[in-house]
Amino acid sequence: MKKWISFLSVLCLWAGYCKADEGMWIPMLLKKYNIEDMQKKGFKLTAEDIYDINRASLKDAVVGLGREGSPFHHFCTGEFISAEGLLVTNHHCSFDMIQSHSSLEHNYLRDGFWAKNRNEELANPGITVSILVRIEDVTEQIMSQLDEGLDIRDRNRKIDSLSRVIERRATEGSNLRANIKPYFNGNQFFMSVFRIFKDVRLVGAPASAIGKFGGDTDNWMWPRHTGDFSVLRVYADENNEPSGYSEKNRPYHPDTFFKISTQGIKEGDFTMIFGYPGTTNEYLPSYAIRQLIEVENPHKVAIRTAKLNVMNEAMNRSELTRIKYAAKAAGVANAWKKWQGEIKGLKRFHTVAKKEKQEAEFIKWAKGNKRYEGIIERYKDLYNRREDLIRAYVYASEAGLRGAEIITLAEKVQGRVSNCIKKKEQAMCKEVLRRETDAFFKNYDAETDRRILVEMLQLYNANLPGEWIPEEVGKARQAGDYERYAAELFKKSSFDTPQGVMAILGSCDEKALRKIEKDPVFRLASSIREFTLHRILPELTKIETELKNENRLWLAGLMEMNPEKVHYADANSTLRVAYGKVGGYSPADGVNYTYYTTLTGIMEKDRPEIYDYNIPQVLRDVYARKDFGPYTQDGEVPVCFIANNHTTGGNSGSPVLNAEGHLIGINFDRAWEGVMSDMQYDPEICRNIAVDIRYVLFVIDKVAGAGHLLEEMEIIR
Ligand code: ARG
Ligand code: GLU
Repeated sequence: MKKWISFLSVLCLWAGYCKADEGMWIPMLLKKYNIEDMQKKGFKLTAEDIYDINRASLKDAVVGLGREGSPFHHFCTGEFISAEGLLVTNHHCSFDMIQSHSSLEHNYLRDGFWAKNRNEELANPGITVSILVRIEDVTEQIMSQLDEGLDIRDRNRKIDSLSRVIERRATEGSNLRANIKPYFNGNQFFMSVFRIFKDVRLVGAPASAIGKFGGDTDNWMWPRHTGDFSVLRVYADENNEPSGYSEKNRPYHPDTFFKISTQGIKEGDFTMIFGYPGTTNEYLPSYAIRQLIEVENPHKVAIRTAKLNVMNEAMNRSELTRIKYAAKAAGVANAWKKWQGEIKGLKRFHTVAKKEKQEAEFIKWAKGNKRYEGIIERYKDLYNRREDLIRAYVYASEAGLRGAEIITLAEKVQGRVSNCIKKKEQAMCKEVLRRETDAFFKNYDAETDRRILVEMLQLYNANLPGEWIPEEVGKARQAGDYERYAAELFKKSSFDTPQGVMAILGSCDEKALRKIEKDPVFRLASSIREFTLHRILPELTKIETELKNENRLWLAGLMEMNPEKVHYADANSTLRVAYGKVGGYSPADGVNYTYYTTLTGIMEKDRPEIYDYNIPQVLRDVYARKDFGPYTQDGEVPVCFIANNHTTGGNSGSPVLNAEGHLIGINFDRAWEGVMSDMQYDPEICRNIAVDIRYVLFVIDKVAGAGHLLEEMEIIR
């Protein structure tokens, strides 16, 4: 038996015959590549039901959440669940919105928020919701204009300018927006055309003790009990078209919305995830993986560990600091933890060795082939040259320019003022900066930031050889006492208080600029910036550009070498479909995890003395009364479940659908043992984590008292 299995899996690896739930597929191409396989695995709908440009299809109910200025870079996914523009996504996706509406008097972060009627829904300027109108393959239009002999940089420039022209032509005279992105490492190009909405309001969010239950301790972990959801509503003008915020706007009527199924989930059930995965790197060479495990991730983790220690200590001491730093700390902690999981997973599943084996085969196959010969050797050389540079870059950004926030602020103020002088817009500059300064200090604690600076300066100096340390950073070491050095810096700088900033701004003129540039914090910032620009980036960008070019050839070669295998394109923040099945996993020898968790498990984790586990009293009461309504399976309220859909960051908030295309959950995370799936997916161990839609309804109905929202939804019981 065993022999058979391993024979089969060799066959799979070799020819890609058995597709193993891996991949993020392009909706437009499902018909060609996936629908048969999906139906074989239980899916009951057609490819056109998912994606159709001539009639309403499921794609019309899926949205990308973005920000004005970068609407195509979707930070999360959301989905319509009513004809009145009601949208669900994760709590952590709306975290910034909830946080920005919170104060000590209205602590929505801690207590939750639920609009009692539409007038109470809260506007979120700057947030965008994009709905895909269509995807178009523009590969031919672009490739036909490129000569193989073109220098890499010229080639990239040409692709950019061609893309802008095609995008413009596709949207001229309409209020649509188009965006072309490279797929398959730049071997193909697709254009996504969107309708982008700008009036997005917060309808409700549970208390953090539900929405972020377990906090950063449980983050990226299974078993999980987080009610990670929030509710938004999209507004449109009187023609149902996008418009900026206006009181006159009314709820948007989507072409389709998801019906919700409370019929339950079993092990082995088909599931599908429809959303906007951000970035994956499934085709990296072994050299890249080794560098990630040995250099990049460990240093990034060390820097963030230091930051987090300071932040957590400050947040535990003061509720005000917690409000100010909750969103920032969650952001820092999230990637910090994932990077550690990646290191573990990539080592445990021997990714480097697997890649080396593939590369050895490739070398043999490519022998004598002008286009593909030599790629692996060039990879080796490029990654060798990259090592010192990437390490220095990690420090310059993580510990330097994005280390202590006072550094970021000083740079920003200087940049604005010098820009305003150039454009002769000084009066306006002052106004803008006043607003930005207020916003900055609303979430700032100088003492916490000073302590972060101490840690950053120390690590920067300790972990890099002298030649990679910017002059002003090095001075901290020469001074001999980091504490004193940082204290002095804060004392002399104008950037640690709003009054200081406004005073140094003066009238935003040349005189002000000279003062700013003499400020010791700005001098530190500028020293790191200059070092990055002159010593790190020129060479690093050159290497990255060359690597990108190798990546394109490498994947083209791999596809030629394995013509029977259906390859999928790495995630690139465009709409994708992943499908798989519900199921538990074994994280370690002797341990088996079930595929779902329940409310009873939340009660078992209840720890009033720990912020992240202190569940709201209402929830305790509801549990004691067993007031579960119809939201149960076998007498328990289900909370989260896992499946082996291939997902990544950006898939947060994505609809998890059953075989009928009904909403059964909202995706929000992956399980620790499998987070290396961005580089190497494994169906045995990789799991996406979703909050069960029945728990979402239960919280809205029984805990939040917002049952009126359920009347808008179509629930299949
Ligand atoms: N790990 C999830 C994601 O990558 C959730 C992050 C938010 N939660 C948190 N505790 N920081 O986005
Ligand atoms: N929490 C992630 C997000 O914000 C999803 C988890 C993942 O990376 O898979 O998109």
